[in-house]
Amino acid sequence: MEFSKKLQQLPPQFFASLVQKVNAAIADGRDIINLGQGNPDQPTPVHIVDALQQAAENPISHKYPPFRGIEELREAAAAFYLREYGVHIDPKTEVAIVGGTKIGLVELPLALMNPGDYMLLPDPVYPDYLSGVALADIQFDTMPLLPENNFLPDYNTLGEKIKERAKLLYINYPNNPTGAIATNDFFAETVAFAKKYNIAVAHDFAYGAIGFDGKKPISFLQAEGAKDVGIEFYTLSKTFNMAGWRVGFAVGNAKIIEAIQLLQDHLFCSLFPAVQHAAAHALTAEQTAVEQLRATYESRRNVLVEEAKKIGWQVEAPAGSFFAWLPVPQGYTSEQFTDLLLNKADVAVANGKGFGEFGEGYVRVGLLVCEERLREAMQRIAALNIFS
Ligand SMILES: Cc1ncc(COP(=O)(O)O)c(C=O)c1O
Repeated sequence: MEFSKKLQQLPPQFFASLVQKVNAAIADGRDIINLGQGNPDQPTPVHIVDALQQAAENPISHKYPPFRGIEELREAAAAFYLREYGVHIDPKTEVAIVGGTKIGLVELPLALMNPGDYMLLPDPVYPDYLSGVALADIQFDTMPLLPENNFLPDYNTLGEKIKERAKLLYINYPNNPTGAIATNDFFAETVAFAKKYNIAVAHDFAYGAIGFDGKKPISFLQAEGAKDVGIEFYTLSKTFNMAGWRVGFAVGNAKIIEAIQLLQDHLFCSLFPAVQHAAAHALTAEQTAVEQLRATYESRRNVLVEEAKKIGWQVEAPAGSFFAWLPVPQGYTSEQFTDLLLNKADVAVANGKGFGEFGEGYVRVGLLVCEERLREAMQRIAALNIFS
């Protein structure tokens, strides 16, 4: 049987080959320190698991949920945005619940665009955005994220034709993979750019809770006029270590939210109601665990940067997210360096080129192992004597 043309045009899953290589090495009995992936290593806070257990026992959870999710979760998302960012959200018209923001990000082009339309994507890019491009049969232009511009796109450098044809723009701060954060000026510029060229904006705020050095990451919706042009995706996967629960939401422009809802009415029947109740609890309960988690990542980041500098690896400390974007030493491509670390140091990192052309020259390291393992990883890399 042949698969549809659409399936055949889906991009290869970038992380699948990394997982395969790492699993093969582990199967050979090697002690691999896996810094390659983005799966939070800590468990969901107990009070959220308790909320799930209670909700799971309620027979109301055993029925089909409303197509557009339970009111309690939409209200909790609105309350969360008001409390954390001072942003007013109407829970009835400005929130869409998604089964993980990956789904929202992949389905949005299908909801807003026609085959052949163009969107704008950063490079390096979170690879799952490309699945949405392929499914909706659209095209994309890229915006390089360069260190000299703090890994923010510079809209002024885009050609006029590219700006004119763009219908949708994705941005993501704190950024995966670079660890960069956005500024108020950049978001204000994004709103002005989107208004001028009539472009819808989706800001992926997956790492919204993870900012370092006393700087809380800002929401795109805090920018004046942001709701006129766009939405923001927020996942519970990272803030609350709930990656396996598959729950997140989009907030902002009511028209874009309606487009997502309409598509989802046909694709899904919302999420297990107990998961939604527990998610509402996570958003509205006290947030001590979130601060502890943020501090854990900051402390790991500090260890990584200190150890890297000790061995002569000149790295920049990421400002947010749980990734560090480290330059590859001279004489290696990203792929060669990634393979060297796996084969000779038993350390897995993600090849920067997998995130796009402008990822060449970098590897992405996840801060998702304990400090002791991070130190050991750096010692193993030091033993290769490539930085001396
Ligand atoms: C930048 C970015 N966006 C979105 C996601 C998807 O998150 P979710 O678990 O909500 O699907 C991830 C997950 O790694 C991510 O890194």
